[in-house]
Amino acid sequence: MEAMSSAAGSSLTKIVAPARSFRGSLTVPGDKSISHRYALLAGLAEGTSRITNFSTGQDPHSSLACMEAMGASSKVNGRVTEITGTAGVLHPPSGLLDCGNSGSTMRMLAGLIAPHAGDFTMIGDASLTVRPMERIRKPLMTMGARIDLTDGHAPMTIHGGPLHAVDFEAPIASAQVKTAIIFAGLQAQGTTSLLEAVRTRDHSEHALRAFGAKLTRTGERLSIAGGQRLHAIDAAVPGDMSSAAFFLCAALLFADSNVVLDGLGMNPTRSALLDVITALGGTIKVLDVGEQHGEMAGTIQVNLGPRGLTGIDISGSLSAQLIDELPVLAAIGPYTRDGITIRDAKELRVKESDRIALVVKNLRAMGAEVVEHEDGMDIPGGQTLRGGVIDSGLDHRITMAFAIAALRAEGPTEILGAEAAAVSFPEFFDYLDELAIR
Ligand code: S3P
Repeated sequence: MEAMSSAAGSSLTKIVAPARSFRGSLTVPGDKSISHRYALLAGLAEGTSRITNFSTGQDPHSSLACMEAMGASSKVNGRVTEITGTAGVLHPPSGLLDCGNSGSTMRMLAGLIAPHAGDFTMIGDASLTVRPMERIRKPLMTMGARIDLTDGHAPMTIHGGPLHAVDFEAPIASAQVKTAIIFAGLQAQGTTSLLEAVRTRDHSEHALRAFGAKLTRTGERLSIAGGQRLHAIDAAVPGDMSSAAFFLCAALLFADSNVVLDGLGMNPTRSALLDVITALGGTIKVLDVGEQHGEMAGTIQVNLGPRGLTGIDISGSLSAQLIDELPVLAAIGPYTRDGITIRDAKELRVKESDRIALVVKNLRAMGAEVVEHEDGMDIPGGQTLRGGVIDSGLDHRITMAFAIAALRAEGPTEILGAEAAAVSFPEFFDYLDELAIR
């Protein structure tokens, strides 16, 4: 059901009714993180790349549009997105590079653009404009880049020019920052290296190798020589684990659930959620698995096991690995037996919204008890929630997380600003209606 709402800045309200069970199968749409990287690298490469199952989300399309503004071109041919690259030369755009809601676009593009001559200005929406960008500017400046921000925020103007290699210690556990550095290193003079103490998602490393670049990892150190050229590829994007997370968590809410997810990306740096689902009482069967360009993908079947929905404490590097899945895990926390605690997740406060504050606010709106911490929250188990009015904050993951919480509530839940789901997963509400048994 859809209605217009007057909530600030939002237009679409979704009403999610409780469900009796959650059953069915779906092919998970293309991964957002991998699609960004394929868009950026195909746009820089020589030749035409053919990318099947490119993400349908708005964010990777922001990356593609920015590359087009700098000389790449793309066209869609059925399930294949053809991207013709600029053969290594990005041209300053005639206008602004609009990154929309996408932090990945702005941060990774900064590294890709910085070695190219000319002035490039990136802007974003209201949410992106308050997200931290100094984390990109600092390392790129040590490589010789000239970057202007306003109080550490977008708009970001890059005065491009030659860069030199630097040895870094990863300043923060962030795949976006790592990617900005290695994309710049690919085009710098000398060999750039980065010590990554907390291992973050490694899609950029796989994608660079797929496009023909050489980079090496020795223990925690990643090295990339400058002056390498990229060549077009044919690739299929695996399904997005962070989108699948909503349905994996929904499967934990009902004793007789059964969900089969096909084409699911299972890169080990993105799959910590599968262990957490098992720890929470889920049963996962891997039905098949394959690999392309270093990315694993396959089919899994998920049910709630005989122990029922238990509980878990999440902290340390596990919080970093699960950062995009924490909102939905928190949203099912009240329905667990033993509760969920989350710590060491302060980064959640600088995502598309302050995800700690919004999860806490929305859980309370549904009648839940929850304790907020600066770096996480405690959600006691054994709670019964009522339907409530959810403020999505126009954040895609908050929208979808509370649509899942709504499935076990005692009445209907209204989600304000539900259009935000399209940032990563435009098909979300259609699939939800298909799999929820009412
Ligand atoms: C992403 C990295 C993570 C994640 C984001 C996508 C990526 O951000 O939250 O949704 O594709 O590299 P950080 O690098 O800021 O941790």
